[in-house]
Amino acid sequence: MQYPEYRPRRLRKNENLRRLIRETRLSVDSLVCPLFVVPGSKVKKPITSMPGQFQVSVDHLVKEAAVIRDLGIPAVLLFGIPEKKDELAGGAFARKGIVQRAVSALKESIPDMMVITDVCLCEYTSHGHCGMLDGDDVDNDTTIQVLGETALSHARAGADMVAPSAMMDGQILAVREALDEGGYESTPVMAYSAKYASSFYGPFREAAESAPQRGDRKSYQMDPANSDEAIREMTLDVAEGADILMVKPALAYLDVIRRAREEFDLPLAAYNVSGEYAMVKAAAAMGHLDGERAMMEILLSLRRAGADIIITYHAKEAAEVLLK
Ligand code: PBG
Repeated sequence: MQYPEYRPRRLRKNENLRRLIRETRLSVDSLVCPLFVVPGSKVKKPITSMPGQFQVSVDHLVKEAAVIRDLGIPAVLLFGIPEKKDELAGGAFARKGIVQRAVSALKESIPDMMVITDVCLCEYTSHGHCGMLDGDDVDNDTTIQVLGETALSHARAGADMVAPSAMMDGQILAVREALDEGGYESTPVMAYSAKYASSFYGPFREAAESAPQRGDRKSYQMDPANSDEAIREMTLDVAEGADILMVKPALAYLDVIRRAREEFDLPLAAYNVSGEYAMVKAAAAMGHLDGERAMMEILLSLRRAGADIIITYHAKEAAEVLLK
């Protein structure tokens, strides 16, 4: 059928028609809200590059999570900034470490809120790399042991799901084995499978105080030029026992999300990262675009590309729009 018989505009005539034929929908059910927890009490420190986001101490974290739960958002993703950093990332797996304390407090006060933990070492190492250094290089096989231990300590504190993000080879297997040996065979693993060495993490590194002191992360995070490699990474993570796959960042990698959707039948997450959030906020503050509409369009695009789960700093704001 062709013009003039077929006129696509017929179905765009009014909002009711548009609602009926809408292919993709955004719902609070898909949202995960990242949160940054710091030591101390009564801390709520704004993250300057991410308006509306804060570093919070455990007392404020619990209040914030209650607001998030009341908006109908199913889960939070926790990042911790420890009291002190060292060469060996001791704070990452300490029984009373910052994330471990935060998880217990959250599960105690809001048991029906799902708590996911980011499992990485960059916030805990003095050099800011995602693992143990051997010379200038991150040593893969010692790092994955520490990641396993870290994930297990999160599970013991009550984490509902762990999300290894260090981009070490074999990390999903190491985490799965550590959880199983510790009796947490029913704790799922969300794998940051295709995580790129991206400029869009800039604001996060201020938020998590995790910028590498020297060098960059290109020897472990992926080259932005590659998408076949993303499929190889995901294939490995599936074999190692991942329950959910992730693509990160989201917006500049919609094609990777779409490919992952077509090639794997596991649930798929997209991480709408700090720089993507900061761009929208900055442009909106300058009056260059309508921040709310841009946010909803971006989040919808991730669902259209094929993501089931959207991890986003916009979670609260988006939930408010969806509940209006
Ligand atoms: C930890 C980690 C990072 C992000 C999530 N987990 C930073 C990095 O790899 O440098 C980035 C999240 C964001 O930018 O919102 N390795």
